[in-house]
Amino acid sequence: MARRIVIITGANSGIGKAAAHRFAKEGHTLVMACRSPERSRPVLEEVITGSMNDRVELMKLDMSSFESIRTFCQSFRNKYKRLDVLIHNAGYFEHGSPYKLSENGIELTFATNVAGPYLLTMELLDLMKQSDDARVLMAGSNIIKHFFNPKLKINFSNLQGENPDDPKYRVYDYYRDSKMALLMVTKRMAEKFSNDGIAVNMLQINGATMSNETIAKLTPGYRFAARIQNLFFRPPEFMANHYYDICVSEKFRGITGELINHKQEIIQKAEDKPGGKEQLIQVATASRCPVYAYNREVQDRVWDLCEEFVSRES
Ligand SMILES: NC(=O)c1ccc[n+]([C@@H]2O[C@H](COP(=O)([O-])OP(=O)(O)OC[C@H]3O[C@@H](n4cnc5c(N)ncnc54)[C@H](OP(=O)(O)O)[C@@H]3O)[C@@H](O)[C@H]2O)c1
Repeated sequence: MARRIVIITGANSGIGKAAAHRFAKEGHTLVMACRSPERSRPVLEEVITGSMNDRVELMKLDMSSFESIRTFCQSFRNKYKRLDVLIHNAGYFEHGSPYKLSENGIELTFATNVAGPYLLTMELLDLMKQSDDARVLMAGSNIIKHFFNPKLKINFSNLQGENPDDPKYRVYDYYRDSKMALLMVTKRMAEKFSNDGIAVNMLQINGATMSNETIAKLTPGYRFAARIQNLFFRPPEFMANHYYDICVSEKFRGITGELINHKQEIIQKAEDKPGGKEQLIQVATASRCPVYAYNREVQDRVWDLCEEFVSRES
């Protein structure tokens, strides 16, 4: 495939950084969209040196801030007339942290992981329409397996500071909900952009070793769990290579609206009421997606909420 123009959010660390190395080594034009220029500059230099590719640059982007997203898009637009690949890799998962609102008054997990990717994609839509094969990829998580429990629903009741002192608040739960909401956004975008030839998919990440910096953002109990998980997880390069293939390879040309697993298989809709054993198999093999993801009413609600959030701030 010809050289692509690529944006990776959160490209300074973990899977995003490994993906930056891969895209740069393959000779593509890359924008590393990161919130801290200070912490990200050494990574940029590492990527350029390692790839001998000088078409790699760093641009500031805070995915939790609508203003930052709009400023980023303006800077990108001033320089590039087309976008081929947009990878929403950045994610907020500071497990154990207290309830926080973004500067736009949205619960921080939802702001960073759902509303941010929604706005960034919408703002860059016209540039993706200029591509012959634009592909958007969302970083998903196997945490959505919790939705095999038919009683579980996304909690919409505390996304705007309604109950900041809720003693039951857990970033973990909001992270789980945010990845399900992002999957719904993925499916809706795929439908809406199908006539424009823009593909939108999600990779279900089932673990990647976390850096010490990432683990340090967690509270001590979660840190311990993350260190144990790290013993079993593959290095970030494993998932980064899936980012690459899904966004560049012929195999995925024309595929859209799909949840894709760590074996590069399309994850199918689960049975409506899977039994315990079947559910276990689905979780273990990452072969089925909870039916909740296909609920049109909830998809509408997530979409409308994103639209409402970003439009009232413009
Ligand atoms: N590792 C796993 O086991 C696992 C499992 C399932 C899903 N995932 C998903 O994989 C993706 C990458 O995670 P990772 O494991 O590679 O962790 P990571 O190394 O901590 O990477 C997360 C990236 O997101 C960035 N980020 C967070 N908030 C941001 C914001 N407001 N604006 C811009 N960037 C922001 C971080 O930037 P800073 O360095 O500035 O904080 C960092 O670059 C995430 O979406 C995560 O949810 C990971």
